[in-house]
Amino acid sequence: MEKIYKIGNREFPLDQSKAEAAYAAKKVINGRQSMTFNLLPLKYQWAYDLYRTMKANHWEPEDIQMQKDVEQWRGHEISQNERWIIMMGIGYFSAAEGIVGDNIQHVVRELVTAPELKLVLGRHAHEENIHADSLLYMISSLGINPHECEAMFEQIPTIVRKNEFVTRHSNNLRRDLDLTKLENKQLLAKNIFVFGQCMEGTQFYGLFGMILSLYRQNKFPGIGQMFRYTLRDESNHIEVFRNLFMDLVEENPDLWTAEFREELVQIMREAIALEKEFIRDCLPVNAVGLSAGEFERYIDYIADRRLAGCGLQVLNPGVQNPLPWLAEMMDVRKEQNFFEGKVTDYQKASALVHTSDDDL
Ligand SMILES: [Fe+2]
Ligand SMILES: [Fe+2]
Repeated sequence: MEKIYKIGNREFPLDQSKAEAAYAAKKVINGRQSMTFNLLPLKYQWAYDLYRTMKANHWEPEDIQMQKDVEQWRGHEISQNERWIIMMGIGYFSAAEGIVGDNIQHVVRELVTAPELKLVLGRHAHEENIHADSLLYMISSLGINPHECEAMFEQIPTIVRKNEFVTRHSNNLRRDLDLTKLENKQLLAKNIFVFGQCMEGTQFYGLFGMILSLYRQNKFPGIGQMFRYTLRDESNHIEVFRNLFMDLVEENPDLWTAEFREELVQIMREAIALEKEFIRDCLPVNAVGLSAGEFERYIDYIADRRLAGCGLQVLNPGVQNPLPWLAEMMDVRKEQNFFEGKVTDYQKASALVHTSDDDL
């Protein structure tokens, strides 16, 4: 259907069917190459909506006061175990954030074709940079030797194994992968599942839980607050990757075989085993007043939520959340009243610009 616009003595024919063809050519993979990066017309509305939510949650490390944390770090009331947890958190995440960001920029964002998917993945990668920056801010505020934190990542076997588990699903997936081949589509789907659901969705939660339990006891309030902001971001990242995974499967039903589904569940099983091993090896759970059994059950509970979210069989049917306070602190979905100060200000500013928020 062609519509003619007359401007002065010139005529501009605009063909709606061409726009519709462009829309139809938008795909998670193997779609029209998006050299011109045209978001219009939007096809993956969820990606744009999440981009908006993520942008409204913007924060910067320097927004957070660290005086109290510095006093506690230099004082005597903090135990050796508690210091270890903070160093572990900084050591693990400073490298893990980089691995996630690198995989987005050099694997997933390169391979997807729809521009709105690239848009939200760009924001996702940027948030990993903010998280990495926040760890640098913590280290420099407390005066921790950065080499010690880096060494942790290289030398502690249970961390090395967690690292190998994720990079195994990323290294052979760099550019120019032929995504018309079934095996390669499955490699990409596996990568998206591993990074979103196993790593960010499950393996981040052992340390998150430890640091938030210190925060709950008023220890290291600045660090705890940064981790809460980070967690709020992570819950959006898990959702970005879950949606991406679901749409990839929907558009490529050939990859969704019973065998492949079983393989994904096995991968999650491995992720859980590695996380529990890491908790037993490195995290003095009892020192923060938690029971090791309950803490491990929490990992089972979280992992099942991730599996169910991707339409996969759960591993522990009926498992209850043994640490409801932790879930409450972690599953922050009502952003508006929860955060104070600048973060809320960013949200207000963005709400003023976009008056039709409710329609999106
Ligand atoms: Fe992150
Ligand atoms: Fe993340």
